[in-house]
Amino acid sequence: MMRKITLIVATLSLLFIKVSADEGMWLPYHIGRVITNMQVYGCKLTAEQIYSADKPSIKDAIVHFGGFCTGEVVSNRGLVFTNHHCGYDAISGLSTKEKNYLDNGFWANSFEEEIPAPGLSVSFMVYMNDVTDRVLNASDRAAEIKKIKEEATAGNHFRADVKSYFYGNEYYLLVYETFTDIRLVGTPPQNIGKFGGDTDNWMWPRHTGDFSVFRIYASSDNKPAAYSETNVPYKPKHFLPINLKGIQENDFAMIMGFPGRTTRYLTQSGIKSIAFERYPERSKILKAKLAEWWSEMEKDVNIRLLLSSDYASYANSQKYYEGVMNALKSSPCLNEKAKLEEGFLKWAQEDANRNSQYSNVIKELQQLYEDNLELNKVIQYLAFAYSGVHIAELGESLALMHEALSMKTPDQNILSQATLSLNDEFGPYFLTFVKEADQKVFASMLRIASQNLDKKYWVSCMTSKQLAKMKPVVGKDAFDLYASFTYQNSILTDSTKLRKFMQKPTLAVLQKDPGVQYALDVNNMFGQYLGAIRAVNQKEEALMKNYVKGLREYKSDKFFYPDANSTLRVTYGQIKSYIPRDGVLYNWYTTQKGILEKEIPGDSEFDVPTDFSQSLRKGNFGKYADKNGDLPVGFICNLDITGGNSGSPVINGNGELIGIAFDGVWEGMVGDLYWEPSKNRTIAVDIRYVMYVIEQMSGTQRLYNEVKIIL
Ligand code: ARG
Repeated sequence: MMRKITLIVATLSLLFIKVSADEGMWLPYHIGRVITNMQVYGCKLTAEQIYSADKPSIKDAIVHFGGFCTGEVVSNRGLVFTNHHCGYDAISGLSTKEKNYLDNGFWANSFEEEIPAPGLSVSFMVYMNDVTDRVLNASDRAAEIKKIKEEATAGNHFRADVKSYFYGNEYYLLVYETFTDIRLVGTPPQNIGKFGGDTDNWMWPRHTGDFSVFRIYASSDNKPAAYSETNVPYKPKHFLPINLKGIQENDFAMIMGFPGRTTRYLTQSGIKSIAFERYPERSKILKAKLAEWWSEMEKDVNIRLLLSSDYASYANSQKYYEGVMNALKSSPCLNEKAKLEEGFLKWAQEDANRNSQYSNVIKELQQLYEDNLELNKVIQYLAFAYSGVHIAELGESLALMHEALSMKTPDQNILSQATLSLNDEFGPYFLTFVKEADQKVFASMLRIASQNLDKKYWVSCMTSKQLAKMKPVVGKDAFDLYASFTYQNSILTDSTKLRKFMQKPTLAVLQKDPGVQYALDVNNMFGQYLGAIRAVNQKEEALMKNYVKGLREYKSDKFFYPDANSTLRVTYGQIKSYIPRDGVLYNWYTTQKGILEKEIPGDSEFDVPTDFSQSLRKGNFGKYADKNGDLPVGFICNLDITGGNSGSPVINGNGELIGIAFDGVWEGMVGDLYWEPSKNRTIAVDIRYVMYVIEQMSGTQRLYNEVKIIL
């Protein structure tokens, strides 16, 4: 009875300010705005248990993993779960042909065996504060922001950030504690961790064991410290227990994590500019690049290990662009935006003040996108095609060097600055340089630019005599031949030659080297267009600031959540099936049966490790089994996430871990631009599958005994 009354009261209070169950990436700081609704859906936690600035709360178990993903602490010794695709770069970086952790997996049997992952860091958000008034009322905003950050970090080891929300209508201070001694504890082989590969990526039903395990190390006083043998496992303020009891459709679920970027408040014209202008070009360019890479990666394990992390990330983006364009066709997004804009305009025109402030903003945005169609296109080719080759990477330093050497008396200051930065770049540059692959991409990028871009936007080699001289032969066009000429005759493709040049740089070498000329060209082009695109972006930002301000007044009965901006958010909802298209219902969970159905021995995406496949067939899943005796693998829920949320914990109403989020679904790919309740789903790997794989693959109970299990 009591519960019923609370429910009625809660529902009544929701009549005044509307919040839906699924949409929204809420600021932990404003969790109070949604906690009542969360409780209606089955959350047993209080607002303070989820986010508190000074008492241990769930947010103390959440980390920004590497700055690009999310992870969760699952033991009192700093054990972190994240996705396999989040650990991918570290795992492939630590792998060699002989110790191939990417292909074969890895499990540490002791703290000593855990492998430092250089360059990897994790950050906890210690607290956040609303600093909107201070920033907006300041005469010098940049100076005020600097002051706010200095105050927050005085006398401590924290890092502070002040970020804009709602396009500069609000500002929040975020204070972080960052740990840099992060070690790999375990990973399944990639034919579990990336099972289904790019074919299954962005899609449901899914059977990917997308998780990996790391540990945070700290100094003996539990503070962040650079790697040292004397560091000890970090003792967190809070960690998530692991619930093996299982889940049901409609169960409450929430996610806390670091979503990267959404643009949900864009106008129709803004969405069209992204999905009809930018994404088709990007998708085309990346597709061409990936094809060239793959043909090289297939030839040699070492090349595959070198390129696989970048390959995966480009493939992920390419399929993303394709998915957004495709899903937009059947999405109500553009119609709904049109309706909203019509209503907004009418509302603005009803009142003299509103009329002067808001009635032109939608039109002005549309004009801005139309005026910059061509610029937008060039930028896509500049950023993705021309810069999509390795040899363009040193452009900035080479330009500096070129500038110094071109002077009558070379400027020694600039020259040594250029040499210094080339020295810094040299190692990383050659570490991931695969000559054959890059040469093929180079030819392909020039070709694709020549087919799609107006001549006036071609890099100079494309109209050069040298290229015109190339006589195509069977299977090789002029671009292939020019690429081969360039890669044979450049200091940028040979570490010995580049080293030699750096010891005694001369203008003559820079001027006759075709690779250097290309890098300089691309760098110049950036100089030429970057200012223009920055100005456009600034103008868009200013117009959007006004538009979003207006929208919030127009719909003043609604709480708005800000677009994702790589800061900590909470989203909540339920475990839910969906209807991808007419006549088809997608169940909310998958099991081991699907892994065995998809299994293709020897295939690069659908192979299953032999022993593992056998144990799945045997089917004795013990405490990990669902009520039918099957092994749960994945599930979906209607929570609101995006890239950056990868690796986030899916948490039940008691604050326990039930899954690790890793993807979205194909039919809901418009999600970053527009929320559609019936199609938007988050895909998670069931925590029971995670624990089963750990037990099977590591062959020990080491991690099982370390975490806190709820049975
Ligand atoms: N779509 C996932 C995301 O953007 C990444 C999945 C990685 N897997 C892959 N097959 N590339 O978070």
